[in-house]
Amino acid sequence: MARRKKVYEGKAKILYEGPEPGTFVQYFKDDATAYNAEKRDVIEGKGVLNNRLSEFFMKGLAEIGVPTHFLKRLNMREQLIRQVEMIPLEVVVRNIAAGSISQRLGIAEGTALPRPIIEFYLKDDALGDPLVSEEHIAAFGWATQQDMDDMVALALRVNDFLSGCMLGVGIRLVDFKIEIGRIWDGDYHRLVVADEISPDSCRLWDIESGQKLDKDVFRRDLGSLADAYTEVARRLGVLPSNVTHAAKPTLIN
Ligand code: TMP
Repeated sequence: MARRKKVYEGKAKILYEGPEPGTFVQYFKDDATAYNAEKRDVIEGKGVLNNRLSEFFMKGLAEIGVPTHFLKRLNMREQLIRQVEMIPLEVVVRNIAAGSISQRLGIAEGTALPRPIIEFYLKDDALGDPLVSEEHIAAFGWATQQDMDDMVALALRVNDFLSGCMLGVGIRLVDFKIEIGRIWDGDYHRLVVADEISPDSCRLWDIESGQKLDKDVFRRDLGSLADAYTEVARRLGVLPSNVTHAAKPTLIN
């Protein structure tokens, strides 16, 4: 088979040219990074789990009418996606205080927020992805006011969907990050959820025990990240219940 052209390589994923114009193949790596890649490791099986989990969430979103870039899963580590024009922002939704909002504003981790709080961060590794305001976004042209309104609406729908999915399996959705892209049709564009949705970009706490089931396990050295992600996948029915370790996950169809 002819070698595919690599379009982009990020910290956790690689994008290749897709089989048809307007498509990419998104490959999920086992690499884990945190603190702007100052901490890094290879977690065997993580890419396989995130490929499957992201498929699960993107398909669910499509079923409730939230557009995404996902087309189909190709194999254990790859999915076919639509090529989109990425908006250079990370959209974070928070239901419970944790991580940077706790540090920045001195709110104890675990405090329920009065309503979901949405924040925008500029995607710029050299600057450490700084928090930016809507004023910054509009003034520097990263997105229009209409885009921002649409991003907020999209992010809140994703929050409701993901919160419900997680609640159903005894997990609290503390916060998450999504990335959004534009699909153009002539002079008009619509926004779609892009990148990935996986425990790499969410905070997930077991409702009963408070146990962390997300990338904080890696960031804070709390145990096996593969075991945590396997537990999330198992509860959601993405893995059969007899899988005991993520190193060699057995996937169901
Ligand atoms: P934070 O508390 O570090 O700002 O993170 C908020 C949420 O966004 C958390 O679920 C982790 C996720 N996130 C990413 O996925 N990538 C990032 O680069 C950042 C800063 C946060």
